[in-house]
Amino acid sequence: MPNAAALKLFGPEIWIAQGPTVTAAASFQYPTRMAVIRLSSGGVVIWSPVALSDALRAELGALGEVRYLVPPNSLHHVFLSEWQKAYPDAKVHAPPGLRDKRKDIRFDGDLDDTSIADWAEDLDLAIMHGNRITIEVVFFHRKSGTVLFTDLVQQFRPGWFKGWRAVVARLDLMTGTEPAVPRKFRLAFTDRRAARAALQTILAWPAENVLMAHGEPVLGTGREFIRRAFRWLE
Ligand SMILES: [Fe+2]
Repeated sequence: MPNAAALKLFGPEIWIAQGPTVTAAASFQYPTRMAVIRLSSGGVVIWSPVALSDALRAELGALGEVRYLVPPNSLHHVFLSEWQKAYPDAKVHAPPGLRDKRKDIRFDGDLDDTSIADWAEDLDLAIMHGNRITIEVVFFHRKSGTVLFTDLVQQFRPGWFKGWRAVVARLDLMTGTEPAVPRKFRLAFTDRRAARAALQTILAWPAENVLMAHGEPVLGTGREFIRRAFRWLE
């Protein structure tokens, strides 16, 4: 039987891929997901790259030239060096805080509020400033109406965590009935005014779907879901 495809079509010009589980602080296990977006100008953007496999590499080869590697916050950078080695011509733009953390990575620019010309037709972004844990760059892919959150919105299936970690995850709102902003992130928003400004931008996007690095996608009710998920911030 042939191996299952590494890339799964998610919408027009956007694919997702599941990566292996990674171990975070206090040995919490996280499933990982990345997204691949094909630009109108040609070439593809890799959002939140997971471990690079031969299968992934082969399937990406059929989609187009890998032009950008996007670590969307200062926490999702673990696999960046292997991707940069495999795709040395791909540009890497740094999210806030990552340059200091990864001196070994060659950054070609920064992810800031000015749109990258190559993306302008396809992607919008909003930077959720004001958080002590990480400042996340949230993306909107126009063709599929998809908002991409990394760690700001999460959901783990019941039973994913065991023992004391299950208790901590529940208290942190990581295992609720729908994806949510974990409590630790809510508490870490020390500048809520800055965060609200980004949220206004995000809520203005005609969002149908929401992708996240840790959790199943929300389909069809994107904007209403985002409004609910961030009600505590209003
Ligand atoms: Fe994460």
